[in-house]
Amino acid sequence: MLYIGIDLGTSAVKLLLLDGGGAVLNTVSREYPLCFPRPGWSEQNPEDWRRAVLEGIPQLLAGFDAGEVAGIGAAGQMHGLVALDAGGEVIRPAILWNDGRTGAEVDYLNGEVGRDKLSGWTANIAFAGFTAPKLLWMRRNEPENFARIAKIMLPKDYINYVLTGAHCTDFSDASGTLLLDVEHRRWSPEMLELCGVREEQLPRLFESWECVGTLKPEIARELGLPPGIRVCAGAGDNAAAAVGTGTVGNGACNISLGTSGTVFISSAGFGVDPHNALHSFAHADGRYHLMGCMLSAASCNKWLMEDIFQTSDYSAEQSPITGDRLGRNHVYFLPYLMGERSPINDTGARGTLVGMTMDTTRADLTQAVLEGVAFAIRDSLEVARSLGLEIKRSMLCGGGARSPLWRRIMANVLDMELTLPVSEQGPGVGGAMLAMVCCGEYPSVDAVCSALVRVSGVVLPEPELAARYEPRYRAFRQIYPALRAVFPRLG
Ligand code: XUL
Repeated sequence: MLYIGIDLGTSAVKLLLLDGGGAVLNTVSREYPLCFPRPGWSEQNPEDWRRAVLEGIPQLLAGFDAGEVAGIGAAGQMHGLVALDAGGEVIRPAILWNDGRTGAEVDYLNGEVGRDKLSGWTANIAFAGFTAPKLLWMRRNEPENFARIAKIMLPKDYINYVLTGAHCTDFSDASGTLLLDVEHRRWSPEMLELCGVREEQLPRLFESWECVGTLKPEIARELGLPPGIRVCAGAGDNAAAAVGTGTVGNGACNISLGTSGTVFISSAGFGVDPHNALHSFAHADGRYHLMGCMLSAASCNKWLMEDIFQTSDYSAEQSPITGDRLGRNHVYFLPYLMGERSPINDTGARGTLVGMTMDTTRADLTQAVLEGVAFAIRDSLEVARSLGLEIKRSMLCGGGARSPLWRRIMANVLDMELTLPVSEQGPGVGGAMLAMVCCGEYPSVDAVCSALVRVSGVVLPEPELAARYEPRYRAFRQIYPALRAVFPRLG
């Protein structure tokens, strides 16, 4: 049988066609616009996602026997607020995970309501990108839109709604709303009351591999697929990527260098970071995970290459960065182009290049950006290590993982062995794997991971280079505290 994995990302939707043995038979990527209506705001139109998926699937299936498709599993950018009215129409553009407009609501939640209460109810505190502060923002700033809300959902849930008509979500994605009691896998009555929403406005909760419905007949016709195809609940993109890279069970780690950068640590039991710097979320394998998320990772490199240097030839820009230059760069970059979430939780932080001299080259800036992202990922890893978690190796996925130079920088800055999966497209592969469990091709998420996850290589840290990076990381750690008070004054 064949399975479709959908990764509803921030820059594009990536569609994958897999067979039951895990071979990726075809991929299609369709981009859509990302709007920044004001500095620090970030929105997308769910109609663009819908069109990209519905036009992309027939393209994905061209040349294959659509009659063989058994199931569909979607992974998606987390936390985005999608609000529909009673007629099923989208009320306003979706407010995304990297949107920073909710500073006041976050201060209210963490300050007045209190971090301890929030953490007790949901296992997490408020971060600007989470869904609950966005609901509070909408209630205060767009009361007429707020009053029209009949259904609240997350980005990939909107796709499942379009495909099946079911208003549903899964526990991993629901965790990032700050409306879920993560430990007990149910909506938190306290948070619902606080945000002024009723349970019937929220999606029904499922485990990621559970079937939420079958394709609507008219959608099946439009896609050229037979009726009866099962759609599973799917997962937030990080939990799906963890499935795609086999990061399940207890103590496994996956690092993703996508638009965002994440450190994902799977856990057999429920646990909370006492400082709430790491998120405590449900996992798509039925268990839990801790996660640090930086808002701009591969997007920093994309910004430097495409917006500033006006080039799409990333490897040409990286080729002058030879091994002898690593760990010796005098330029540092704070990757806070959209503010930052983990671990500093500061919407006002900004991207910064420091340390330039008259002999600084274009390649030094490129290197600084790659290193700055690696240093910021290490910040989250250090939080995990400070909790006593022993993380000796990790999977590495996401678009950034395609660069051999960046992989080497990462392994040495983190001083950790990094394993590369065969496909760096973790979320889409994970979505398809969840669909396989949904359709009975494999009995569990653990089983599909053991059967299908294959690695293409390992990047080892080099002791001398890792040692060279150590003082650089310590220097990097001093820059943000020195500038923290300056950022709000920059305007
Ligand atoms: C995770 C997060 C991001 C988005 C990116 O908390 O906000 O990784 O899911 O798609």
